[in-house]
Amino acid sequence: MCGIIGYVGTQRALPVIMEGLKRMEYRGYDSAGVSIMDPVGFFTLKRAGKLAVLEGALEGHSHAGTIGIGHIRWATHGAPTDINAHPHYSCRGDLHLVHNGIIENYRELRDELTALGHTFVSETDTEVLAHLIEQELQPGVPLETATERGLKKVVGAYGLALISAREPEKIIAARLGSPLVLGVVPDGSLIVASDVAAIIAHTRDVVYLQDREMAVLTPKGYAIRTLDAQEVSRPLERVEWDIGSAEKGGHAHFMLKEILEQPDTLNATLLGRIISGEGLVKMGGLETIADRVRNIDRLIIVACGSARHAGMVGEYLIEEYADIPVEVELASEFRYRRFPAGGKTAVLAISQSGETADTLAALHEAKRRGLLTLGLVNVAGSSIARETDAGMYNHVGPEIAVASTKAFTSQLALLVLLAVYLGRQRRLSHALSEELLHGLSQLPLQMGKVMQQAEGIIALAQKYRHAERWLYLGRKYQYPVALEGALKLKEISYCHAEGFAAGEMKHGPIALVDAATPTVVLAPRDSVYEKTISNIEEVRARGGAIIAIANDEETVQRSLVDHAIIVPRTLEALSPLLTVVPLQLFAYGFAVARGLDVDKPRNLAKSVTVE
Ligand code: AGP
Repeated sequence: MCGIIGYVGTQRALPVIMEGLKRMEYRGYDSAGVSIMDPVGFFTLKRAGKLAVLEGALEGHSHAGTIGIGHIRWATHGAPTDINAHPHYSCRGDLHLVHNGIIENYRELRDELTALGHTFVSETDTEVLAHLIEQELQPGVPLETATERGLKKVVGAYGLALISAREPEKIIAARLGSPLVLGVVPDGSLIVASDVAAIIAHTRDVVYLQDREMAVLTPKGYAIRTLDAQEVSRPLERVEWDIGSAEKGGHAHFMLKEILEQPDTLNATLLGRIISGEGLVKMGGLETIADRVRNIDRLIIVACGSARHAGMVGEYLIEEYADIPVEVELASEFRYRRFPAGGKTAVLAISQSGETADTLAALHEAKRRGLLTLGLVNVAGSSIARETDAGMYNHVGPEIAVASTKAFTSQLALLVLLAVYLGRQRRLSHALSEELLHGLSQLPLQMGKVMQQAEGIIALAQKYRHAERWLYLGRKYQYPVALEGALKLKEISYCHAEGFAAGEMKHGPIALVDAATPTVVLAPRDSVYEKTISNIEEVRARGGAIIAIANDEETVQRSLVDHAIIVPRTLEALSPLLTVVPLQLFAYGFAVARGLDVDKPRNLAKSVTVE
């Protein structure tokens, strides 16, 4: 998830663009760049690293140009380097472009354009767009028409802005799947950006572009049209947010924003990876080692915290669908084990940040043993991403809140895709795989239904804000969800919350149950539902409120629980992606009710780079 911005108007473009990039820094921060145009040509500067590096490089520059574009990057294709930073240009260098999204067919387009004589300088998917539009920009063809023709060949998602020396007063912006908003400034200037946060300091009057729409911005005004050249007229909207909340999408905290955006981030994770109808998945990052992956006969997953809980769901998934023995290890413990491992053992490191010291140490141990190493990482170019033999990126954009939410559900989705990938290399049938992938593709919609209950779940948490001790119970696929729910609550509200395998209760933990200790039970209609109901009855008999996450009201009708939060039904292997969402919302509401700093809880850091 990157941030793009374009400005045309009466002011100097550079300060407006740099201030806008700063407001979008939370969207991605591994490289940045600007291009300002004036009658002489382009002034362009791009730097890897945080925005401050570009700001430092710009010191002393005060370009007078009143039209320009800028970009702050969250790398998806190509490491965070100066060359891979945006803007990207055409061969002639007279067309500059910034982009947020993923061009799925960029390899095919790059080959076609190379055959037509185009030369590429970066490793990015974005650069293809600049050459694609250049190819259409024949004499007499307006910039918007060339853009329209080029974009019709694109498969993927984009929010883009481009400028060209051929029509030096024009910015073209286009959107498909990645947000774009146009700000109309009282002085007549126009700003187009990925996020209101980049605009709100200059104007509150905005127009949100919709998918397959294009905006043409000039100092004389703007026009919106569809990619089929149909004119669009849409009234201005008034943004009431303050700047601070604009970065959080109008929400009070990043954590709530990141919980609620999970249907979108799940779509981003799945984009281009399900080959529907064939029961197959496309895992570009594994293609180079497909044969080595085909030969593994054991998988060890190493991770910490939420990432380990995701790995525990992956253990069930991969054993069930790929028939490969899996063990999940605490990364911080793994390095002390003298684990017997043959050459066909692979180690999968799961890490949102890609910088967790314990997970990195476990990875080094696996490499020292000469094992195949795979990564499942959100931050492109991070240490773990760089040091594994191959891997998969989450593509969910930066996760700002310390408590992991959108990265966690993305990890679960990628583990489903990995189970299918491994399974179809082995004996997983087309039918079973197709059933799983179809269910996976329905999850963003189903997750959206859970989000509609957000207010009620947050209110329920507030009712329980005085409870100091919590138990979370789950069986099989729901056991890791119970651990995750307990971790969410304890890390942002500092009260004791413990997750247990529901079957383990009678072996000691049930002694903890009393009237002051609420219990949260994961009870979807799965293969162990009746056993979970028995656990609920055991807890019921000993007092304490019970909150169930269920697929229907039966658990309530059987007067077993005090509250039931209903989530849509899906395959057992997919249900953790839905049952975890109420626990995220509940933890959020509970911590807010206790007046705590939800996004930055005490004693914690987003990336634990110390052992
Ligand atoms: C999760 O909410 C916590 N912030 C923490 O447990 C986290 O999952 C753990 O530190 C691992 O981080 P990573 O995914 O970046 O490796």
